[in-house]
Amino acid sequence: MTKKINILLLPGDGVGPEVCKEANKLFLAVSRRFNLDISVDEDLIGGVSIDKNNSPITDKVISKANATDAILLGGVGGPKWDNLPSKDKPEKGLLRIRSELNFFANLRPSICFTETSGASTLKSEIIDGLDLLIVRELTGGIYFGEPREKSKDVAFNTMIYSREEIKKISEVAFESAMKRNKKLCSVDKANVLEVSELWREVVLETSKNYPEVELEHMLVDNAAMQLVKNPKQFDVIVSSNLFGDILSDIGSMLTGSIGMLPSASLDKNSKGLYEPVHGTAPDIAGKGVVNPIATILSVAMMFKYTFELNEISDEIESAVKQALANGYATQDIAQKNSKILSTEEMGSLIADYV
Ligand code: IPM
Ligand code: MN
Repeated sequence: MTKKINILLLPGDGVGPEVCKEANKLFLAVSRRFNLDISVDEDLIGGVSIDKNNSPITDKVISKANATDAILLGGVGGPKWDNLPSKDKPEKGLLRIRSELNFFANLRPSICFTETSGASTLKSEIIDGLDLLIVRELTGGIYFGEPREKSKDVAFNTMIYSREEIKKISEVAFESAMKRNKKLCSVDKANVLEVSELWREVVLETSKNYPEVELEHMLVDNAAMQLVKNPKQFDVIVSSNLFGDILSDIGSMLTGSIGMLPSASLDKNSKGLYEPVHGTAPDIAGKGVVNPIATILSVAMMFKYTFELNEISDEIESAVKQALANGYATQDIAQKNSKILSTEEMGSLIADYV
């Protein structure tokens, strides 16, 4: 019997539609190869949704997202909408779907392939072979904390976490560490912030259930420095929404290019929203040069975490490795002897390998 899978595709803005098109090729290849019945529905999020529906995400799209098995998102935002107030920006669409569907656990792997390490601004020996996982809390903290306000001369936000929220994300982080090298670094700012004091307390408490995992606490400023200085000291990092956002951008440069980085945002049942870590890259949108690999690897994560079809995620990952090993690259990861491909060519090549 063929297995039926429903996916909601939300390409969004900028390069989003270009990378999602390549994901579609991959869905087709995977369904043929593995005899799956994948049906893909597509809808609007972000700026394109503001333009058409006056809202960065409609209730209809939220209900579709609720009903589907998994969601793949391209990206949201761009200069056209930059002058809108925060509450009306394209980004609000993404924040709403994360929050309303309780996608609290954001997994952002930083894996450095030998073929792309030369594309980083860092020395190859610092990052070669890096395999790091950042676990970012995604539905709380300063992104959503109330009260929040902006008036003419003052503005404020609230960084708030409950014991329960910290416990939930810590458990995901410890579970991830158990499946990896059993090392967890919790990142906070406990020398200044009360919210971080509680964070540390709860992470420490949770660690009692995971005696095999070696736990370390690190202040976020130091963690930023250590990531650049010696990233291979880390296995799993867990952090709050804002700190995790910042650290994962650093994480991306450790792999050569942000164009390589996938992410998964999961609820407690491992239903997920998958998206590349990179943004909408308005400067290169429409030029056919964006690297589709971050999105392709996000699809691999989808098969691993939501559908628990590791055979398929492994296959997609090895197709990516094969493309790189054969010397193919998009502009962002190109080196001296690379054969440079457009977005579409890279997408087709990887789908063909699958
Ligand atoms: C990310 C992005 C988002 C975030 C923006 C687009 C709201 O930077 O996914 O890392 O800050 O979470
Ligand atoms: Mn970010």
